[in-house]
Amino acid sequence: MSAWLSPAMREVPPWVPNLQRAAAYSRVFVRLNRRRTMKVPVLDLKAEYAQLRDEILPALDRVCQNASFVLGEEVEAFEREFADFCGTRHCVALANGTAALHLGLLALGVQADDEVITSPNTFLATAEAITYCGAVPVFVDIDPATANLDPKLVERAITPRTRAILPVHVYGRPADMDPIREIAARHNLRILEDAAQAHGARYRGRRVGSLGHAAVFSFYPTKNLGAYGEGGALTTDDDQVAKFARAARSHGQTARYEHEFVGYNYRMQGFQGAVLRIKLRHLYAWTARRQEIAREYRRLLAGARLEMPVDDTRDECVYHQFVVYANNRNSIVTQLAAREIETVVHYPRPVHLQPAYSSLGLPPGTFPHAERACERVFSLPIHPGLTAEQVAYVASSVRELVGEK
Ligand SMILES: Cc1ncc(COP(=O)(O)O)c(C=O)c1O
Repeated sequence: MSAWLSPAMREVPPWVPNLQRAAAYSRVFVRLNRRRTMKVPVLDLKAEYAQLRDEILPALDRVCQNASFVLGEEVEAFEREFADFCGTRHCVALANGTAALHLGLLALGVQADDEVITSPNTFLATAEAITYCGAVPVFVDIDPATANLDPKLVERAITPRTRAILPVHVYGRPADMDPIREIAARHNLRILEDAAQAHGARYRGRRVGSLGHAAVFSFYPTKNLGAYGEGGALTTDDDQVAKFARAARSHGQTARYEHEFVGYNYRMQGFQGAVLRIKLRHLYAWTARRQEIAREYRRLLAGARLEMPVDDTRDECVYHQFVVYANNRNSIVTQLAAREIETVVHYPRPVHLQPAYSSLGLPPGTFPHAERACERVFSLPIHPGLTAEQVAYVASSVRELVGEK
């Protein structure tokens, strides 16, 4: 009998009172029943750097040797390469995605007191940029199947003050752009895509970034294409929009110390251009791996008591996030954390219910689909460095916690 007892148990002498003996037994019981866990982070930028180090360091050295710390050759080359990638005539590299949204809206003529239609299921920056222009964000509820702006609801939100529509390709899934484009054309509205989470996603075969009058990207380090610091870009086919953004990012200068208008300091740093050029070359393989993991999650979670957004087979989603929806989200997320599985909630609150936008006076219940999504959503790890074992471990843990349909 004592052969299978742990050394600690074997050490309990027979004269120890029963209570102490029971406590020692229960400690062994807990140890025997403790689940074996596996650490699964939502992102592993250190591992990614280890993979890229030999490419990155010489490129950073080049920037230092040329002393091109702000804009410069690497940034210009990145602009050409990223415009090619998106299938647009222009790419203007900027300090971050929020700056890109701000300049994009200004370039499309958004002014004080205009209205801009957008989704409440986004990062705050989308709405903030509208506010920077003195304009008003007008939210339209999401389609619960895709988590993107529901085009069927856009038209009734249009007023004489509406100037632009700002669809967000949230989680890397393209918004339904054909009806949005059709409505915009009919009402003479501009379209700015918020593609901050969707580098390389395709809608009906065309890359996001080329589907409106202009588009913006974020290269925040956690993005599918992330810089080593802040970064953003505006893409467009419109020469005037690109010309405005180039001047506006650099204090309104059209030539050195020729300031045509009051602009901003929204320039991209040289280091970021160098890093992004290297990472853009890897993006194809990284995206393919994200898509493979998403397929695997869908297979392993089929029949489990949760919902996943629907992929339109005509489009290509790049899975910045793999979101799922479940009741008892908070409890599931806590239990996953206990198993060392990291998750994030994108987003715990829709923008109209954030204190920052309380002045809009939009009470709970205004956008029921977005609000319900925020109560139930959480994102599973989906970075390209995940192993098959980690994916299987995440899926089996989630399945066990949510139960079967
Ligand atoms: C949808 C969306 N829009 C805009 C932004 C802002 O980008 P940045 O953080 O680069 O300013 C983000 C970044 O998180 C985002 O997710």
